[in-house]
Amino acid sequence: MEFKSKIKTIEWVDNYSKMVDQTVIPYEYKFVNITTGDEMFHAIRDMIVRGAPAIGIAGAHGIVLYAQEGANKNFADVEEYKNWLIQKAEYMKTSRPTAVNLMWACEKQIEIIRNSSSGINGIIEELKQNGIKLENEDIEINKKIGDYGAEVVPKGATILTHCNAGALATVGYGTALGVVRSAFAKDNTIQVFADETRPRQQGARITTFELAMDGIPVTLITDGMCSYFMNKGMIDMVVVGADRIAANGDTANKIGTYTVAIAAKYHNIPFYIAAPLSTIDTSIKSGKEIPIEERSREEVTHINGKRICAEGINIINPGFDVTPHELIAGIITEKGILRPDYNKSIADAFKL
Ligand code: MRU
Repeated sequence: MEFKSKIKTIEWVDNYSKMVDQTVIPYEYKFVNITTGDEMFHAIRDMIVRGAPAIGIAGAHGIVLYAQEGANKNFADVEEYKNWLIQKAEYMKTSRPTAVNLMWACEKQIEIIRNSSSGINGIIEELKQNGIKLENEDIEINKKIGDYGAEVVPKGATILTHCNAGALATVGYGTALGVVRSAFAKDNTIQVFADETRPRQQGARITTFELAMDGIPVTLITDGMCSYFMNKGMIDMVVVGADRIAANGDTANKIGTYTVAIAAKYHNIPFYIAAPLSTIDTSIKSGKEIPIEERSREEVTHINGKRICAEGINIINPGFDVTPHELIAGIITEKGILRPDYNKSIADAFKL
């Protein structure tokens, strides 16, 4: 039985990109139309769209938008247009630093620009079609991840997740929450515990919202509570998403993931990563090489525009942490569940 999720996070429509505005969830569920490349850069940077696979697709759409804008400029020839567009695509890659899906999807568009033998209108069409293809593939890949992952979900399990690796972090269905959706389709007695995920509350605001929308039971807990519930025997497994996975399996994901992984190891609870192969960066040997985004201090000092701490104190706000591969029971991908030794299983997955 296939699980039908109602959410489509981002979609190319005619000549613009339509996306769910994630900054206003759960108060509002509204769509915004992004019509220029610069608007897309800001939508990614300001997290109107967020989640590694979703920002990959957003980046690909953003390059189509730049391609359309370039058609109105007076370039001497197609080569000059292509060089300008590649510079814009390189700029799009810098909108956020950690999730490698953004660089991966922009690079797919750059390949098209480089290899195309078409004129300007032809290049725009090729980029548009590729954006739509990546969009459709993302949902298919997530369903495969979901189905592989569902095989390791025990009957009646309580699954803990951190941040939002759901339909709203992808084009649809989700990675970690894709596993939840596929497992729920087979066994509707499973349930989710969602960490709130300070400072931006993706767990509280987005994960609970999308699971409630799809009728999947979810309990919200604060970030510090996970060990308490693990110790009480109330968590059977952990599944989270990823922003970048190194060749040895070290995994960057939302800040706080590492703490959950350590707690899971201590309590002998399997800790899984669910992610497409496009999140794996085989060009880096270990997690030490993953760039970690430092975000604004206001995310920590303020909640809903109100200051929650003293003035004149130091603030540090890394957006991600790296979970060492030793803590990861398996990486659930569209090619199956990769197990240690990750250097080998990851390399093998790319050959399949
Ligand atoms: O800062 P965000 O909200 O973009 O961070 C999102 C996460 O860390 C997700 O867990 C990750 O991107 C995986 S999404 C399938």
